[in-house]
Amino acid sequence: MFDGNRRWQVMRTFVGLFLFLGSAGVVYGAEGPAAPTGLRCEYLSNPMGIDVQKPRFSWVLHHSERAQMQTAYQILIAGSAEGLDRDAGDVWDSGKVDSNDSTQVVYAGKSLSSGKTYYWKVRSWDTAGNASPYSAAAQFEMGLLSRDDWKGQWIEGNLLRKEIDLQGRIVRARAYVTALGYYELRINGEKVGRNVLDPAFTTYPKRVLYTTYDVARRLRSGKNAFGVMLGGGWATLGRRFFDPEVGPYYKAPALLLQVNIEFEGGKTVFVVSDGSWKAAQGPIVSDSVYDGEVYDARREQPGWDQPGFDDSAWSAAQTVEGSKGVLSAQMMPPIRVVDSMAPRSIASPRPGVFVFDMGQNMSGWVQLRVQGPAATQVTLRFAELVYPDGMINRENLGEAKSRDIYTLKGQGEETYEPRFTYHGFRFVEVTGFPGTPSLDSLRGRVVHTAVGAAGSFVASKQILNDIQRLIHWSQLTNLFSIPTDCDQRNERQGWMGDAQATAEEAMMNFDMAAFYTNFIRDIRDAQFPDGSLPDTVPRKYGGVPGDLGWQTAYPLLCWYMWQQYGDRRILAENYDALKKYVAFLRSHAQDNVYRLHWEGDWVELAHTPGDYIGDVWYYYDVSLFSKMAQILGKSDEAASYGQLASQVKDALNRTFFDAHTDNYANGTQTANAMALFLDLVPKEHREAVQRSLTDDIVYGHNTHLTTGFIGVKFLMPLLTSLGRSDLAYDLAVQTTYPSWGYMVERGATTLWELWQDKAGPAMNSHDHIMFGSVGAWFYNALGGINLGPESVGYQHIRIAPQIVEDLHWASASVDTIRGTVSSSWSYSPGSIAIDVTVPVSSDAQVVVPAEAQMTDVVIREGGRVVWEDGRYVSGDPGVKGATQQGRIFTFEVGSGNYSFRLTGSE
Ligand code: BGC
Repeated sequence: MFDGNRRWQVMRTFVGLFLFLGSAGVVYGAEGPAAPTGLRCEYLSNPMGIDVQKPRFSWVLHHSERAQMQTAYQILIAGSAEGLDRDAGDVWDSGKVDSNDSTQVVYAGKSLSSGKTYYWKVRSWDTAGNASPYSAAAQFEMGLLSRDDWKGQWIEGNLLRKEIDLQGRIVRARAYVTALGYYELRINGEKVGRNVLDPAFTTYPKRVLYTTYDVARRLRSGKNAFGVMLGGGWATLGRRFFDPEVGPYYKAPALLLQVNIEFEGGKTVFVVSDGSWKAAQGPIVSDSVYDGEVYDARREQPGWDQPGFDDSAWSAAQTVEGSKGVLSAQMMPPIRVVDSMAPRSIASPRPGVFVFDMGQNMSGWVQLRVQGPAATQVTLRFAELVYPDGMINRENLGEAKSRDIYTLKGQGEETYEPRFTYHGFRFVEVTGFPGTPSLDSLRGRVVHTAVGAAGSFVASKQILNDIQRLIHWSQLTNLFSIPTDCDQRNERQGWMGDAQATAEEAMMNFDMAAFYTNFIRDIRDAQFPDGSLPDTVPRKYGGVPGDLGWQTAYPLLCWYMWQQYGDRRILAENYDALKKYVAFLRSHAQDNVYRLHWEGDWVELAHTPGDYIGDVWYYYDVSLFSKMAQILGKSDEAASYGQLASQVKDALNRTFFDAHTDNYANGTQTANAMALFLDLVPKEHREAVQRSLTDDIVYGHNTHLTTGFIGVKFLMPLLTSLGRSDLAYDLAVQTTYPSWGYMVERGATTLWELWQDKAGPAMNSHDHIMFGSVGAWFYNALGGINLGPESVGYQHIRIAPQIVEDLHWASASVDTIRGTVSSSWSYSPGSIAIDVTVPVSSDAQVVVPAEAQMTDVVIREGGRVVWEDGRYVSGDPGVKGATQQGRIFTFEVGSGNYSFRLTGSE
C-alpha cells in the first residue's frame, strides 16, 4: 500500500490509460428484472449425459436497477421443448419459491429417467416483487443411470467396425462411448463429435467415464457403418517401476459402446460393442501418450468406416472383461483441439534437419502436410528447448520419446495429425521430409481440456501481464481431464500438491467447477483403505502415503469448491472420506505432531524441514475439517475437531516455535509464512515473527523468494493480509533470479518447474503450473476481487484493490457462479478511481484507499458526492453506507455498476 510520498511523486507524471471493464456487458433496455441467463445444470450448460439424480441448477440475474435481489424464483422442467413453451412444468414445477438462491438449487421433481432429455427455464422476482420474463429454454439430458442399461461388452482391437441395416425413420439416436484408453468413433465415414483423447484419465478399474453423443444426423435408413479406432492412452501405459500397482492397468485398449436408436413408432434398436464386431490392424502402428504415434499411411483401409466395405479379411473382435468399475457420465468439459497456430519460423541447423519454432510452449501436436513418394518416413520430434546451434534439446523430457513418425502412402498431398498422444513443446524437429518444408508444412494444434475462460487480469505494469500470460498458458496446458504437473516428460500426472497450490488461481482464470468436481471424485476413488491418499491421482507416481502437501489437495479442493461456488454437496459427499483421511493423519501423529514427510516445500531454495511442513498441513486439514462439519450442521464433530486443531496448534508451537529468535522451524520464509498465514503464532510474538519474515525477504535476500511452490502459495496472500502488499508486489515484479519475472526475462512462454534456468537432463520442465499460485494474488490483491468475510459463492464480495508503488491501474474481472464481478482502478496523483460491477443478488464492500497524507477527501460515485467533510453522504442509489478507518473508506453497495472517484489535497 501507499508507503509514503516519495513513490507518489514518481507517479505524478503518469497520464493514465484507464480500462473500464466494469460497464462492459449487456445493456438492458427494459425496466425491472430481465430474464435470467447463463443457465447451468451441474455447472454445465446444456449438458448431454449426466448421471446425477438430483442435479443442481444455477442462473445469472440481471436488473436495470441497482441493489437488486432475487426474492423468489420459479423453475419449470418439461419432458418436451413444446411443453416448456407452453409453460408446462410436467416434470418439475417448483412453483414460486421465496429464496434468493440462484445457484446450487437442487432438483426436486419427479424421478429422472435414463437417457431422457429435459427442458427447463427459470424466472425470478425482484425486491419489489416484480417477476422477470422466463429465461430462454435450456436442457439437460440424463445418461445411462444403471449398469443394466448397458447391453454391450468390452471388446479389444485396433480398428473395430460393425455394419447394421436400419429400417424406418430415425427420430433420435444417442451414442454412449467409452474406452480403456482412447477412442475415436466414426459413423458412416465421419468422426463423431469434437472430443479428442477421450475418455478422461481415471483409475479405470474403479471408474470409467463415458461420453454421450447425439448421432441422429449421422445415421440413415439402410446400411450404416460404425468404426472405432482405439489407442492405449493411460490404460496401457505403465511406469517401469517396482510397484506393480502403478504398472499398466490393461494389456490392450478396449471399447464399450452403445448406440440407442429410436424410430418413429416407438421402436428402439441398440447397437452395442460385442463379439459380432470385426477387428483389424489399422495404420496406427503404435501409440503412447509419452512416446507419440507411429502411423503408416500405407496401411490405411479406405472405406473401413463406411457401409459396404469388404471386411472379410478382418477377424472377430475379442470380448474381454474390461473394467468392472462404475460407469459414470463424463461431466466436465472434454479435451479438444482448441486452437491452431502457424509456426513462427523455420530453421535448418543441419542438412535435412528442419526446426520449427511455434513461438509458444504449448500442449498438443502438429498437423503435417506433405507430398512425396510412398514409404517416405517423416519424423517429428518435439522439444521445449533448442541448443545454441539451433538443434532441439530434449534432455528434460525424461523417458518420453515424444515423437510422431509418419510414413507416406505416396498419393498427392497427405495430411496427418496424431490421435492418441500429445506433446508439450515449442519446437518441432522435422527429419525425413521429402524436399524442403515450408511454414505451411506444419500447423500447431493446441490441445487441452476445453474449460471456458472465467477471468481476466491486466495491469499497467507489463511484467505482471507477461506473468499472467505465462500462468494462463501453463494452466491450460496442464489440464488434461486431470490437473497435471507438466505436459512434456514422462509424468503428466495428477500430482496433488501442484493441484492444490494452483486451484484458486485456476478458479479465478477459468470455469473450473465441473473439472474439480470430477477430480475430487477421482481423489476419493484413489483413497487407500486406511484413509490416506497417494501423491498422484490416479495413482501412478509418488509415495504411499503421499506427502501431506499433496494429500491435502483433498480437503483443500473441497474447501475451494465451497468458497468459490458455494458447493455444499461436495462437502457432504466427501465428508466421510475426509473424516477417514483425518483419522489417518491422527493415527500417525505422536503427541499431536504429524511428522511424516517427503517432498516438504518442493523445489525450494532454502530448505524448510519437512516434518514441520507436514505438521502445519495436519493443523490446516483438521481445522478445515472442523469448519466443514460446522457447515454441514454437525456441531458436535465440529467442536471435537476444533478442539483437536487447537491441541495440534499448541503441540506445533511447543515443537517448532523458537520464542527467542521468533522463528518457526529454521526460520525460512516458508516456515514463518505458513505459521503466520494459519494464525499459529502466539499473539505476543506475531509482530516479531512478521519481522523475521520480512527481514529475511528484504535484507536476507534482497527482496527475493527462497520458497518452493508450497511456501509461495502462503507467502503472497499473507503479505497482503499483513498490510505488506508493497513487498508482495516487489516480489511479483522482481525480474532477477529467483522470480517469475526472471522466467519472463529469460524468454519463458510458460512457467518453469524450477526457479533456476536449467536445460540439462535433470528435472526441469519448462511448463509447470505449480508456481502459478501467484495468479490468485493478482486477482485478490491487485485486482481487488475477494469473497466477503465468511461469504461463499460471491454472495458477499469485498473489492479491495491494493494500490501499490508504481502500479497506475489494474483491472480484473471474474465470471463467478453468480455473474460477473469486476474491479478496475486507476491512480493519478490526488485521485483514485475504482469501478466495480456487482451481480444482482450480491452485495459488496468497496474499499477506497486515500493517499497517506491526503486531506479534504471527497469521494464521488458516478459524479454524485458520497463522502465529504469526514462523513458519508447518503442518497446515491445502491450505496447503503460508508465508514472510514484511517485513510481507508469502505462503501457498502448492492448490485450494479459503480464508479467511485476519490480526490483530495496532498
Ligand atoms: C512433479 C512435481 C511434483 C513432484 C513431487 C515432480 O516430478 O513434476 O510437480 O509435485 O514431482 O514429487
